[in-house]
Amino acid sequence: MSGDLYGIVSDIHGNAEAFAAALAAMKELGVTKICCLGDIVGYGASPVECVQVARDHCQFIIRGNHDSQVLPPRHPDMRAEALAALEYAGKVLSPADIEWLKNLPTLLTPDEMFIICHGALTDPDDYILTTEAALTNLNLLERRNDGKNLCFFGHTHLPMAITRHGAKTNLTAGGKIIIDPTKSYLINPGSVGQPRDKSPLASLVTYSPFDGSVTWHRLNYDTRAAQEKMKEADLPKWLWQRLSLGK
Ligand SMILES: [Fe+2]
Repeated sequence: MSGDLYGIVSDIHGNAEAFAAALAAMKELGVTKICCLGDIVGYGASPVECVQVARDHCQFIIRGNHDSQVLPPRHPDMRAEALAALEYAGKVLSPADIEWLKNLPTLLTPDEMFIICHGALTDPDDYILTTEAALTNLNLLERRNDGKNLCFFGHTHLPMAITRHGAKTNLTAGGKIIIDPTKSYLINPGSVGQPRDKSPLASLVTYSPFDGSVTWHRLNYDTRAAQEKMKEADLPKWLWQRLSLGK
């Protein structure tokens, strides 16, 4: 069994200030490998920097729905604010970066103990927000029959731990669970760059396969600097306002 301490980050969304805070915290915590669950770009003003940092520091990277839609075709239901931010990302990212984002994998097995995806095992764009979606994905995880009973996912921007017995959602700083190897888990680290659980603090988890502990960490970062960059980039007002609100 791996002696690594994993840092699991998701939904960076072009927020270089939050990403820098997450990296500093993971270094301090003794993280040895970093998994990124996708949506490196979109919404924020620093897609170029975030792509570079992800490449330089994350050992395992999954493609998110924003990463694959920097250039059209895009999902017809995508909101105007999201579209505006992707148009911006499309202008500042190099063709090579856009291609790199588009070709990232949608599922990875970083360790014998767990797998990672963006939205869900059913589809990278699906949201695990209902009991039905949770059960469908737990069934899929168990049917893989490879001994892995733990899947980290992102996309909803909501810190969460789901088992067949229900979901634990009040996972603020220091929230911790110990993985029971006889049960299956779907775990969301929350979002680094655009938290939506009414806290503006960047969110991530650390996971130790050795003792089975998953711990949530919440981080202050220079929110104002991220917002100023978004204003300068002429991104929609709601996108920078929501960073202060955590929604
Ligand atoms: Fe996202």
